Amino acid sequence: MRLAGKIAVVTGAASGIGRGTALRFAEEGADVALADLNEASLEETSRQVRALGRRAIVQLTDVGDRAQVEKLMSRTVEELGGLDVLMANAGVGSGASFLDGTDEQYDRIMDTNMRGVYLCGQAAARIMVERGTPGSIINIASTYSEVTAPNSSVYSASKGGVRMLTKGMAVELGQHGIRVNCIGPGWIRTGMNPLTDEARVSRILNGVPLGRVGTPRDVAGAALFLASEDAAYVTGIIIFVDGGWILQ
Ligand SMILES: NC(=O)c1ccc[n+]([C@@H]2O[C@H](COP(=O)([O-])OP(=O)(O)OC[C@H]3O[C@@H](n4cnc5c(N)ncnc54)[C@H](O)[C@@H]3O)[C@@H](O)[C@H]2O)c1
Repeated sequence: MRLAGKIAVVTGAASGIGRGTALRFAEEGADVALADLNEASLEETSRQVRALGRRAIVQLTDVGDRAQVEKLMSRTVEELGGLDVLMANAGVGSGASFLDGTDEQYDRIMDTNMRGVYLCGQAAARIMVERGTPGSIINIASTYSEVTAPNSSVYSASKGGVRMLTKGMAVELGQHGIRVNCIGPGWIRTGMNPLTDEARVSRILNGVPLGRVGTPRDVAGAALFLASEDAAYVTGIIIFVDGGWILQ
């Protein structure tokens, strides 16, 4: 049990990578605070965590809203007894071209992907510092923090921002024993990216050396490493979980 006795907050926990990570953390002994906008699916994640014998709380949260994020973190400490790990995972995608994109699309992506990671990280880190907790913060970026494609300019900018924010947080929070890292998922089959078009999947797989698309559990494995003592001397890095897609 690599997270025995730990308390983790997972945002975007109603679906995909967030749910997969919450369950992986629970399998390894963590109690989890689950945050998302989707209450019904959050309750399902909570039911699955409890079936693993761990405690879970559900907090409806817009990660772009400071008051809601602060409530999530304070409730976690009050009801679960601490805050050791934050997985800042909630995110939205976009299919808008640069020429056609609207301010509303820009704000939605930046408010969730960038401001959400900033607000969650700051609120969690303030609690960790105050309580003297040597915590681990894991931000979810993307392979699109490094490369990009048509119709992804703002999304890529948000994920590039997450990557740089991660480095800055690692530099400032290291003195408090807090590690901050990020994960860059590649093509992972989730609600955001159902990958149902077989022709498209086969085009994608031409560029994936490991020859398959990823699963939430693939990403959860990297999150578990970064959350655990196995990564005690690791901070400020990105781990790409992409089957090698970024290499070519
Ligand atoms: N699936 C992929 O191929 C892929 C690739 C690279 C990066 N990512 C990143 O992984 C993360 C998780 O995505 P996923 O693929 O599991 O998608 P998903 O759609 O299955 O899950 C995302 C969750 O975030 C929640 N969410 C959205 N906006 C929110 C907000 N403002 N506040 C709180 N919750 C909010 C959604 O309700 C959803 O449950 C995202 O940051 C995404 O950018 C995914």
